[in-house]
Amino acid sequence: MRALETTASRAAAWGGVIQTYAAYLPVTDATPVITLNEGNTPLIKADNFVRAIGGEFDLYLKYEGLNPTCSFKDRGMTLALSKALERGAKVVICASTGNTSASAAAYAARAGMKCVVILPNGKIAMGKLAQALMHGATTIAVEGNFDAALRIVRELGETAEIEVVNSINPVRIEGQKTAAFEICDVLGRAPDFHFLPVGNAGNITAYWRGFREYHAAGRTDRLPRMFGFQAAGAAPLVDGHPVSDPQTVATAIRIGNPASWQGAMDAASASRGHIGKVTDEEILSAHRSIARHEGVFIEPACGAPLAGLIRCVRDGLIPQGSVVTATMTGHGLKDPDAAIQSAGCQPVVVQANTAAVMKVIGL
Ligand code: F0G
Repeated sequence: MRALETTASRAAAWGGVIQTYAAYLPVTDATPVITLNEGNTPLIKADNFVRAIGGEFDLYLKYEGLNPTCSFKDRGMTLALSKALERGAKVVICASTGNTSASAAAYAARAGMKCVVILPNGKIAMGKLAQALMHGATTIAVEGNFDAALRIVRELGETAEIEVVNSINPVRIEGQKTAAFEICDVLGRAPDFHFLPVGNAGNITAYWRGFREYHAAGRTDRLPRMFGFQAAGAAPLVDGHPVSDPQTVATAIRIGNPASWQGAMDAASASRGHIGKVTDEEILSAHRSIARHEGVFIEPACGAPLAGLIRCVRDGLIPQGSVVTATMTGHGLKDPDAAIQSAGCQPVVVQANTAAVMKVIGL
């Protein structure tokens, strides 16, 4: 009972990741904290899914879709906007497949700063585009992919007035590592395996850093093996070279030349992990499966690590009794078009009477 009360009061007082993990972050008392009380996302045990895929281990989903802008990006963005404001920048800019721009737009609105986002035209999920527009970001869609948009951001560069808030900004990675801290705090240990989707590769770099820092600080007694998954049509890390025309239904990870390439490779090799690729069919199947079996609604990119986990179980790589965590990076409502496609069905339209409804129910 006492443990429950402690948890409840902690949640009620939750002031965001900077307040909670300041000792591990590059902030001082002088840093103005721009927060939407991000973080503290649930770790959901997914027994039904594990049973369905024939595993015998504990799987926990770190459901990052429950952050304020419905993706993990808020962890890095609270720090990026706070540091930008601290040094007196006026404008933040980013390239994005959608979630970074949504988060940057929201935190910039809160900070009273101007936000400019550069997106691949026509390849942004509807919810994410709505967020950038709604928060008042100057929204520019280029005739090209994410890699082209990031190249433009790099060329524009950082000035006294402009702060780049892509994960090439090191404070973004610092903020994102707090998700690994939360996993260890809730489990009371580090997992044996951690699975996550990989696009620009900032998040796998951040998690690995977080797990290592907690281990070095004596907060955990082990390090997880890091398993990252890319979409087969956008898998430069697996193929070993940049992909000039990346393609996947998981638009969040439609990236051909990841900025944190080395960080991802280091995480996989130092942890005895793996970077793999899965097909769009496998991604959509996992996307649907986790919604049907667990009631957890994710965006397609999160289907990649689940599909990867299915392969690992099939290959006998996850020992019985392991503790496995997987980051569900974004909420399913971000991409309703993909969800309706993935569901593979439509509402049944009937006359407005009880008999017609009963017939559909099959009673
Ligand atoms: N999952 C989601 C939902 C994402 O939005 C992203 C990246 C990733 C996974 C991959 O993370 O890039 O750190 O390897 N989205 C970026 C964006 C690129 O612009 O929103 P990563």
